Amino acid sequence: MVYDFDEIIDRRNTASSKWDNVGARVGNPDALPMWVADTDFRCPQPVVDAVIKRAEHPIYGYPFVTDDFKTATVNWVEKRHGWKMDPEWLVFATGIVPVFNTMIQALSQEGDRIIISRPVYHPFGFAIDDNHREISDNSLVYENGRYTIDFDDLQRRAEDPRAKLMIISNPHNPVGRAWTEEELTRMSKICADNGVVVICDEIHSDLMLYGHKHIPMGMLGDEKMRNNIITCYAPSKIFNCAGLRGSAVVVPNPELRKLLNQRFKMNRSIQQNIFAVSALVAAYTQCEDYVDQLLPYLEKNVDFLRTYLKEKMPKIKLVEPEATYLMWLDCTELGISGDELANFIIQDCKVAVSRGDGFGQEGKNFIRLNIGCPTAVLKQGLDQIYQQYQKRFS
Ligand SMILES: Cc1ncc(COP(=O)(O)O)c(C=O)c1O
Repeated sequence: MVYDFDEIIDRRNTASSKWDNVGARVGNPDALPMWVADTDFRCPQPVVDAVIKRAEHPIYGYPFVTDDFKTATVNWVEKRHGWKMDPEWLVFATGIVPVFNTMIQALSQEGDRIIISRPVYHPFGFAIDDNHREISDNSLVYENGRYTIDFDDLQRRAEDPRAKLMIISNPHNPVGRAWTEEELTRMSKICADNGVVVICDEIHSDLMLYGHKHIPMGMLGDEKMRNNIITCYAPSKIFNCAGLRGSAVVVPNPELRKLLNQRFKMNRSIQQNIFAVSALVAAYTQCEDYVDQLLPYLEKNVDFLRTYLKEKMPKIKLVEPEATYLMWLDCTELGISGDELANFIIQDCKVAVSRGDGFGQEGKNFIRLNIGCPTAVLKQGLDQIYQQYQKRFS
């Protein structure tokens, strides 16, 4: 089927966090929403059909998780990313955020340290704070417009006896890196050698740009390394169905799997909604054509953004993305940061971006712009920024 990603769909008054809660969450109800990580594209038709089919049955009693979510996920990941997983390793989850919160509780004590690499998806830090653990920040290195990992620092942090877990975003939100096999193997080995369990969040793995290949961390290295990794997948980002709350956790190590299942049971956090599994199965079994059309559209949006910035707002630099629709924009040359930068973009330009320092202080000179929208909407957002930029920075 052919998808029209230029279609403008009015999302207001649909209880959309991005559109209807922008005032409360970003601080300006009149700003154009380009923040939280969902897209403004319609879901693939097979997912819509699966939801409608189930909705048409008039009884919405308690569902249970049927095993077809395992086969669908296993086949998808093998076909798209080349990792052959055993269906036994899979556990259903109502989202990825609950998984890392749950594993923090299961594998660490209050006061223990959890390693993350900032700037990074802010709920990693929230989960650590909320559970009264300490953040051990293996800050990414930013040089010549590109982010890399400081392995010496990681080694020191992993050797700390209080370090129990590392949470990795692969590919990385917000800096857009698709970690290479070498980088992933080194991270995995350092963690496995020091008894630091890895949660590898691969929720953005289907959103690879410009021919970059996603490498599942869980397939690399020796058995000790592979048994030390918990990998998270979901159809929610690529197929824009985050509201359905269906995802899959891959835990090859039976001990860790048991712990995850026990905690889920203890917290009663496995009660999925009636649509979650059928939507996941439809997405992973019938919607490759959507991915094949979406990725070139996103690349076109990135190209548009890059050219626009170069031609009209050269003081804002695009950090070249290798994956995701979340663009990380370096605003250092504007000479404003933190609150002042956020106020400029969100209040003066009326564009609701995610502020960079929300991902850690490392991001104070940056903003994150969600380009998962029709090109016309992206242009509107950029035009709004340009109007104010001209007045203040030209
Ligand atoms: C890296 C990352 N992990 C997890 C999530 C959200 O996970 P979920 O909605 O499945 O809890 C997001 C959403 O933006 C994300 O970017």
